[in-house]
Amino acid sequence: MTSYPSINLEKLPQHIAIIMDGNGRWAKGRGKLRIFGHSAGVTPVREASELCAELGVKYLTLYAFSTENWSRPKVEVDALMGLLVKTIRKETKTLMDNNIRLHAIGEIKSLPQECQDELAEAIEITKNNSRMQLNLALSYGSRWEIIEAVKKAALAGEDMKNFTAEILEKYLETTGMPDPELLIRTSGEHRISNFMLWQIAYSEIVILEKLWPDIRKADLVQAIEIYQKRERRFGGVEAVNSLQNLKS
Ligand code: IPE
Ligand code: IPE
Ligand code: MG
Repeated sequence: MTSYPSINLEKLPQHIAIIMDGNGRWAKGRGKLRIFGHSAGVTPVREASELCAELGVKYLTLYAFSTENWSRPKVEVDALMGLLVKTIRKETKTLMDNNIRLHAIGEIKSLPQECQDELAEAIEITKNNSRMQLNLALSYGSRWEIIEAVKKAALAGEDMKNFTAEILEKYLETTGMPDPELLIRTSGEHRISNFMLWQIAYSEIVILEKLWPDIRKADLVQAIEIYQKRERRFGGVEAVNSLQNLKS
C-alpha cells in the first residue's frame, strides 16, 4: 500500500524518464543567476527519486546534462559540475535510506575527474540496493549513444551485415533496462533534445508546464495519472500493455 490512492499500481510504469527543464527561467524570474535555479532543482530530484521508489517504479532516468550543454558558458558548466559533486555526496544517504541503486549513463569520462570519482564512489556504495535504479544521464546524448553502440558492436565482432535491434540494444547505455513507458518534460517545452531517441519509440510523453525547481511529488503523481489514462496501441488497433504483448 502506498499513500497515492489515485495511482493504479497494476498499471505502474516500470521505467520513467524525465527531461528536467526550466532551471534557468526559474532563476531569471527571481532576478538570480541561472545556477541558483540549478541548485533549486536538487529538491525535485530527491522528490522524484523518493516517489518512484515508494511507488515501486523500477527505473528512473533523469536527464541532468546533455552533450550539447557543454556549449553553455564555462561558468555555468563549472557551477553545474560543482553542484553535481556536492549533491551526490549529500544525497548518497537519501539513496541508501530509500534502497536506491545509482547508475550513470552518458560519456562519463568527459566529466571532470572529481565528478567521476564522486559518482564512482556513490555507485559503489549503493550497488546492492534493489528497490529502484536511478540513472543519471550526464554528458548524455542519444546520437552519441547510438554511434558508440554501433562502434562497440563492431569492435566486439558482431555480425554487422546482419545487424538487428537486439544487437544494438546490447551496446546501448540502457542495456538490460525496459524502455521508459513514460517520458516527462517540464517547463512546457515540446521537444526531445537528443534524449533516449531509441528507447522512447513508444513512450507516452507528458509535458508539465511547471519549471523543474517547482516540481514536487504531486506534479509527478499527476503525470502518472495522465499516463494511466492513455490508450497505448503500439501501431495496432486496440489497447495493449506493451510492445511484447502486441507481438505475441
Ligand atoms: C535544465 O534547465 C537543466 C540543464 C539543462 C542542466 P535549463 O538550464 O535548461 O533551464 P532553462 O531551460 O534555460 O530555463
Ligand atoms: C535538455 O534541456 C537537457 C537537459 C534537461 C539536461 P536543454 O534546456 O538543454 O534543451 P533545449 O536547449 O531547450 O533543447
Ligand atoms: Mg532548458
